[in-house]
Amino acid sequence: MPGPVLHPRRPWEGRSIVLGVTGGVAAYKAVQLARDLTRLGAEVDTILTAGAEEFIRPLSFDAVTGRSTATELFSTDGAALHIKLGSEADVVCVAPATADLIARAAHGRADDLLTTTLLATRAPVLICPAMNDRMYSHPQTQTNLRHLGEVLSYRIAGPGTGPLAAGEGSGPGRMLEPHEIVEEIGRALSEASPLRGKKVVITAGPTREAIDPVRFIGNRSSGRMGFALAAAARRRGADVTVVAGPVSLPVPYGVEVLSVETAREMLQCVSELLPEADVSVFASAVADYRPANSSEEKLKRADVGPEMTLALAENPDVAGETRAARKAGSVSVGFALETTSLVENARAKLESKGFDMIVANEAEGEGAGFEVDTNRVVLLGVDREPEELPLLAKDEVAEMILDRVSEIVESGAEPSG
Ligand code: CTP
Repeated sequence: MPGPVLHPRRPWEGRSIVLGVTGGVAAYKAVQLARDLTRLGAEVDTILTAGAEEFIRPLSFDAVTGRSTATELFSTDGAALHIKLGSEADVVCVAPATADLIARAAHGRADDLLTTTLLATRAPVLICPAMNDRMYSHPQTQTNLRHLGEVLSYRIAGPGTGPLAAGEGSGPGRMLEPHEIVEEIGRALSEASPLRGKKVVITAGPTREAIDPVRFIGNRSSGRMGFALAAAARRRGADVTVVAGPVSLPVPYGVEVLSVETAREMLQCVSELLPEADVSVFASAVADYRPANSSEEKLKRADVGPEMTLALAENPDVAGETRAARKAGSVSVGFALETTSLVENARAKLESKGFDMIVANEAEGEGAGFEVDTNRVVLLGVDREPEELPLLAKDEVAEMILDRVSEIVESGAEPSG
């Protein structure tokens, strides 16, 4: 299966990442990591330890990063290099991090280029452990990891649980997958966000309203905008829950996805989550009507006859009806999909549903609407001039929305309920 198309984007674009690779079998996955980060627009400087060089060659990293890989401390460059790399880095990530590297880092050793760089940097450090499960669970390794996390404030990402190296069985000790580490690095790069530690609830995707056991009323929403918002909010340090109608998208790393089918199920789920949410975003395309009488058995053509009339009943307005459940002082964002009078209709929804901000979408037009990776939107806020954004990738639209939400959070939002 082809991987996702990566293009330069926030928060990786233009950032300096030092990637330390140590001598574990997962070192081969670090090449993919270096490649993905580079394609996201980061400048990746790789440091290989002597152990890593047993598994993988510097040339692989040179080829995917377009920069020369460093290995030697005791060379003409090496002495100055650790200070330069360490002080210029926006984040230092060690993946895979062996038990040996973790021990050396925990004791402040400076016996190779990677450990000296760790001492030279003041940037966030991300450690991605990878080792045999018995080595990982050893009290000494655990003590070292605790020291790195609690005393030095390093971020420890993983390990995952699953198959280990050949013949070593399965257990905790697997390095996180490259796309997961990319997200952890994204989170480390966004340290100062006002969304850090905030609870964010997002509705996404369509709802399905049953006509009979096999047929339903639905719509073309793919859930991409809501999922892009969820991934971006998680990267900014938020604790994110998505209430999603039926979508066929991978669950974003680190995000909790609660699956629902109908508008009424979505209403129930959202009502329970909102009292705790600091930010709520209603990105779902909820079906406004459902069949008034859903048949328990499949409707037969012979029984229905040449014409069929479907009586519809109004569905709840998830955003509108949960207004009273919103936490005081929380920030609430809606979407408005319109085919006519975009700004006027969106402003009316902003007011009637008590949003702090609304994202107005053109339903039609090139690159906008459902089932595409781009969107063209206008952002409307209370007492703010409409802000028209150009055609952008949904990932970037999500970032722009969260920039505005962050401004509102920082300014101490007025209660929106
Ligand atoms: N919304 C919702 N529940 C509904 C309908 C809409 O929560 N039953 C939310 C959407 O997620 C969006 C906002 O309300 O954030 C506006 O949705 P939209 O479909 O544009 O508006 P409607 O209220 O359905 O108005 P209309 O169909 O008349 O345009």
